[in-house]
Amino acid sequence: MTRIAVVGSNMMDLVTYVTRFPELGETVEAPSFLMAHGGKGANQAVAAAHLGSEVLFVGKVGSDAFGALTLENFRRHGIDARHVGVVADTPSGVAPIFVEPGGENRILIVTGANAMLAPGDVERARAELAEASAILLQLEVPLETVYATVALGVALGVPVFLNPAPARADLDLSRLRGLAFLLPNQSELALLTDKPVTTIAEAEAAARTVIAAGIAAVVVTLGADGALYVTADSVVHVPAPRVTPVDTSGAGDAFIGSFAHHYVATRDVTAALRSAVAYAADSVTRRGTQISYATRSEFDAFLLTSKGS
Ligand code: RIB
Repeated sequence: MTRIAVVGSNMMDLVTYVTRFPELGETVEAPSFLMAHGGKGANQAVAAAHLGSEVLFVGKVGSDAFGALTLENFRRHGIDARHVGVVADTPSGVAPIFVEPGGENRILIVTGANAMLAPGDVERARAELAEASAILLQLEVPLETVYATVALGVALGVPVFLNPAPARADLDLSRLRGLAFLLPNQSELALLTDKPVTTIAEAEAAARTVIAAGIAAVVVTLGADGALYVTADSVVHVPAPRVTPVDTSGAGDAFIGSFAHHYVATRDVTAALRSAVAYAADSVTRRGTQISYATRSEFDAFLLTSKGS
């Protein structure tokens, strides 16, 4: 059994499907809305759990209705939430999301209780983290907690995967040495490196500057173009199956949860990339973030019918 620990965020996603955005001072009617569980950390946790990993979550919820619902959501997915703290007098994280007719999204986050996840909370989960096959991190919790978790994972000999999202120019790469994988999307890699990342060649060049700064392996997610894996001495591009997207929000998290699950199960990076691009492609054919993620059997059915995977 693969055991994945996520040290990260949870949010309540408030998703509005728009036909166009209002101008300043204008009101525009939007056709539909949904509220569902999200947050980059929780999304990655749910993707890995759907595929069959045992998942531990280390995080914080607020002392409000969204916090209680989030704990119930973890329980429903079989995710171990013993290390999810409830922060008194603090709201849970929320994410207003706007999705355009082609499926492209814009996301705001209000981190709420996620901002209270401290290095000490991670240290308290040390025994459980030591048992994990991988630790997944994102940047919706404080940077000091991210750095402390990387250091703990390295000390414990557990591979750490960091998804540097949302993008932050102040991320200190020198405090990430020992990471197993850095997994940015194109815009995150562009901000981190101050280089253009609009083509596969540019993504490889930018990833090489991250590697020169001491990170062993970079996986760049390229949306409909799949993913690119770069190390000091190798580069692998894995294309994505063609699908018609209805909502791309949470696709990067679907990719990372799936990649981590398959990588720790097989230690085969290329096979894990193939599975992950297919899992993410399938997710964009449905609305929402976690609620768009396939179960193991749904994903097996998608693989049978998809072309190019
Ligand atoms: O990556 C998608 C996620 O980003 C959403 O679920 C939202 O909550 C924000 O964290």
